[in-house]
Amino acid sequence: MIATVRSARKLEGAITLPGDKSISHRALILGSIASGDSQVRGLSPGADVQSTAACLRDLGVSIHDSQITGGGMRGLHAAAASLDCGNSGTTMRLLAGLLAAQEFESELTGDESLARRPMDRVVEPLQRMGARASWPPLRVGGGPTLNGIEYFAPVPSAQVKSAILLAGLYTQGETAVVESVKTRDHTEVMLGAMGAEVQVDGLRVAISRAEQLNPIDIAVPGDFSAAAFWLVAGGLVGVSDVRLRGVGVNPTRTAFADLLTSIGFRIGRATPRFEAGEPVVDLEVTPAGELRPVRVERGMAAEMIDELPVLAVAATQIAGTSVISGAGELRVKESDRLSAIEAGLTAMGADIVTRDDGWIINGPRRLEGARVDSAGDHRVAMALAVAALIADGKTEIEGAECVEISYPDFFDHLEYLC
Ligand code: S3P
Repeated sequence: MIATVRSARKLEGAITLPGDKSISHRALILGSIASGDSQVRGLSPGADVQSTAACLRDLGVSIHDSQITGGGMRGLHAAAASLDCGNSGTTMRLLAGLLAAQEFESELTGDESLARRPMDRVVEPLQRMGARASWPPLRVGGGPTLNGIEYFAPVPSAQVKSAILLAGLYTQGETAVVESVKTRDHTEVMLGAMGAEVQVDGLRVAISRAEQLNPIDIAVPGDFSAAAFWLVAGGLVGVSDVRLRGVGVNPTRTAFADLLTSIGFRIGRATPRFEAGEPVVDLEVTPAGELRPVRVERGMAAEMIDELPVLAVAATQIAGTSVISGAGELRVKESDRLSAIEAGLTAMGADIVTRDDGWIINGPRRLEGARVDSAGDHRVAMALAVAALIADGKTEIEGAECVEISYPDFFDHLEYLC
């Protein structure tokens, strides 16, 4: 599908974002091994979360609307065939951890993009725990009881941390992950809420074997990583007043909002509350003031990894040189996001150069509508759509259907707000 996006004169209105993708995956997976029925309202409608639900159904779990019937810690059954994780790295890595601890073997596959992504980062720690795990193709489980390990994560990754913690629910002895940067902590928050023994001490998270998990009853907050596109768009379009209802603002997710505020964006927070142990607010976006160049250094990128493509778009409008570094992980996401964003923004007239681990962007540049390629990557498609809103004329985004992965209503919301 080619999406045509035209220059916007204003951006106004209130929208409700899709349910948080990260929390939705975890609610489905943990609900599946809880003892009894969990109620999870507002699950992400995106294709990635549907991949997780489909894999769990193949493992014998009953999921109907918002109800997940958990069969306990040993309630999963071997699937009849390979589990298809689609485009979803979170599905593949989290399920690898859970399934490594089961008495049966599982094979996990995915689309072309997922087949190219590194899975050694989960296989290696799972092997250290004594699991049978190999890749490629990714096969896990059917081995002896796992041992607890203390794992110093070489790459900051919430998916890897979560995989190890899920396996750690089944180990003899404590399992701990020590990170160099704190990544999103939804797994440990939800596990704690379900009665697991989780200990968090700074950058170290430890889990003990669980005999059972209590079911949950939650409403999933709106996805901050989806909100990010409107934070930038609302700040850059000359006239704006956008309200984003019910956005999850877990501090391990909101470094991007803090960064935007520090360079001159105006983002208000209203009606704070809690859902499922997670902080939630309404975000209010109005035009930015005078903007200062962006500097993302080593150690900062991991905290805003999903928001960096749209940060690059913002940087094209800021006077001076913006430097985004320490972001080499963007090369192994759903696409090589460093190259895909450089290609799209260059076609639109930006001054952007890609380095090994980030971009250097000189601004401000007036962007021109162009034909650009999403590279089949939802966050690239949405970031380029934001660029299109502030560009002259019309932009055509190829492969725009990939927004289905995390935000199926994205283009409807765009039309409504304009
Ligand atoms: C996610 C973790 C991040 C993020 C992804 C979702 C999660 O990936 O980019 O969109 O839900 O744990 P990494 O763990 O590879 O950094």
